[in-house]
Amino acid sequence: MNSALSSQPLADFIRQLPKAELHVHIEGTLEPELIFALAQRNGITLPYASIDALRAAYQFQDLQSFLDLYYAGASVLIAEEDFYDMTMAYMQRALQDGVVHAEIMFDPQTHTQRGIALETVFAGIARALREMRSTAGISSRLILSFLRHLTEEEADATLTAALPLREAYADLWTAVGLDSAERGNPPERFARVYARCKALGFHLTAHAGEEGPAAYVRAALDALQVERIDHGVRSEEDPALVQRLIRERVPLTVCPLSNLKLCVFNDMQQHNLARLLRQGAMVTINSDDPAYFGGYIGDNYLACAESLELTRNELVKLAGNSLIASFLPQSEKDRHLKQLSEFTV
Ligand code: ADE
Ligand code: ZN
Repeated sequence: MNSALSSQPLADFIRQLPKAELHVHIEGTLEPELIFALAQRNGITLPYASIDALRAAYQFQDLQSFLDLYYAGASVLIAEEDFYDMTMAYMQRALQDGVVHAEIMFDPQTHTQRGIALETVFAGIARALREMRSTAGISSRLILSFLRHLTEEEADATLTAALPLREAYADLWTAVGLDSAERGNPPERFARVYARCKALGFHLTAHAGEEGPAAYVRAALDALQVERIDHGVRSEEDPALVQRLIRERVPLTVCPLSNLKLCVFNDMQQHNLARLLRQGAMVTINSDDPAYFGGYIGDNYLACAESLELTRNELVKLAGNSLIASFLPQSEKDRHLKQLSEFTV
């Protein structure tokens, strides 16, 4: 037993753990302050009188009530500089939380539909990520995410439009994802575009089992052939599926404060993260849309630790899962895991 580690305040212990964030939407890191600053810079009038009034509107009943505000918030992103500023703010915050590697989702269709060039989106985000890699040593990847409330044809057209940029951003863009309104938009609808992405050599992940049923998790595995499931908490409703996730070591990128804010669970004590972890599932802790859900990755770890009575070794295990489940090369995973092993108490 390492007494220095076990007597440290929990928040400090969590902050020091080298960890990967695998589920964060960059548009969901736009804090109200930055939304107002970018609106002013771009001459956009917001339907809120103040930063506080905007923040006060963050009361959600379900995923759709959140998505309505999230897409409205993203409308202040116009120039490359805006994407850069947003990404920089997130990366600096992640660094404070001990994130050594971030796999960041972005929604190109949210921007191209408003007439913003795909290149502007890529360029601004990538400039911040590369700068943080060289100045702070934090690595990152980009997960280009298709909006599931739109059609597969539109997803396919987005992929086609993005492919000419692949070489220029090969150090970052290595994966695709599927997000937005889950209910009524099952994974099967995107099977062909996912098959195309797989043939192109992209890593594959998809949101499933957040609001949608366990059957959507099965469909993401079978019809889309994903390597990870984003959320996946409703898998618990199908015990045979949970056994499969454990057997096949499928990572779940769980976002506890998001689940709380979007009423997937009524309170944190009822969250199933600890149950899934203790059964042997490869669960990880992530922030999803931290500016909207009241906390970054460290806050998510802390809320789980306190409400679910996670031990320090369970917190180390969760951080280890995040590194193992990342799309990093094995040598880099091993380097971070070695550092993490110092924290076993
Ligand atoms: N886009 C941003 N956050 C999301 C979430 N939690 N679920 C689905 N789509 C999203
Ligand atoms: Zn998400």
